[in-house]
Amino acid sequence: MSKPIFLTGVQPTGRPHLGNYFGTMKQLVDGQGKYDVRAVIVDLHALTTVQDAETLSQYTLDLAIDYLAIGLDPKEVLIFKQSDMPEVTEMAWVFNCITTVPYLSQAHAYKDKVAKGKEASVGLFTYPILMAADILIHNANIVPVGRDQKQHVEMARDIAEKCNRIYCTEKGKPELFTLPEPMILEDVEVIPGIDGQKMSKSYNNHIPLFATDEEIRKLVMAIVTDSGNPADIASGAISGIPEHVYNIHKLVRDQKSLDELYEANRGKYKLLKETLIEDLIAFIGPMRDKREKIAEDIEGVKKLLTDNAVRVRNLTKPLMEEFRKVVGLR
Ligand code: TRP
Repeated sequence: MSKPIFLTGVQPTGRPHLGNYFGTMKQLVDGQGKYDVRAVIVDLHALTTVQDAETLSQYTLDLAIDYLAIGLDPKEVLIFKQSDMPEVTEMAWVFNCITTVPYLSQAHAYKDKVAKGKEASVGLFTYPILMAADILIHNANIVPVGRDQKQHVEMARDIAEKCNRIYCTEKGKPELFTLPEPMILEDVEVIPGIDGQKMSKSYNNHIPLFATDEEIRKLVMAIVTDSGNPADIASGAISGIPEHVYNIHKLVRDQKSLDELYEANRGKYKLLKETLIEDLIAFIGPMRDKREKIAEDIEGVKKLLTDNAVRVRNLTKPLMEEFRKVVGLR
């Protein structure tokens, strides 16, 4: 039996941060061996925000390097560019035609934009449709995503069901699409930033995944804490455990030694931050070194993407052919 298909997309929009890593990217690494892992660089999605050719191609290559640096084995995992599969936009068009405007208006990314009083582009509006095509063209079984993308995966399921019904079962034909399952790890649901809010570039509270030691030091020192006043700790008014430091520390230290450390050092915020800096450097340092090595062979990375473009189109060709047939484009 073939392995379940495990697919996710990351937008090439610049340096990834710890939130991207623990939310999505790490799950791909952990899925290797167990699943047929496919890592999509969703450059078409990035067009909703990145509108400069050079920047976009640089970010795209950067993300391929990032994927390799975090430990994705290019022999095990298919790393490819979304725009290398023009069939995805073809499929997305058909999905556009069977999805209603009121339904799509419920998508968070679009609603948030409108709530901020901004005008959304048509691309942003129809973004969940393109994402559905990314997933369904592979008949992916599992889609690891952060909590904020769960709704979009559910939309992909709805679209798969609708498509199966309209074009397949109602016409007495076998179903074409598998319903994808979102996978959200319980303990990494929300990765906190240095101010305790969800880690996000737009809040500017993030720690880059490949941060330099200097950046790590500066950002950890900037983590927001309470006063740490000994009298307040003694009276029980504050716990002496700096919550935001602890929550980030939790990502890189096991629970038991983490709790012992914080228990034994209540109120010693400087020491706790110093320890977090050390642990982050120990975690990030080797990946950063690996990244630098990979970046030296940029031609190798480009070749991987070109080879994979051919591989992925071959893999998805039978389903695409079938899709065109049931829709009436053949
Ligand atoms: N929309 C996702 C995000 O912004 C990225 C994405 C595009 C994706 N296509 C996908 C995620 C397919 C999972 C599967 O983070």
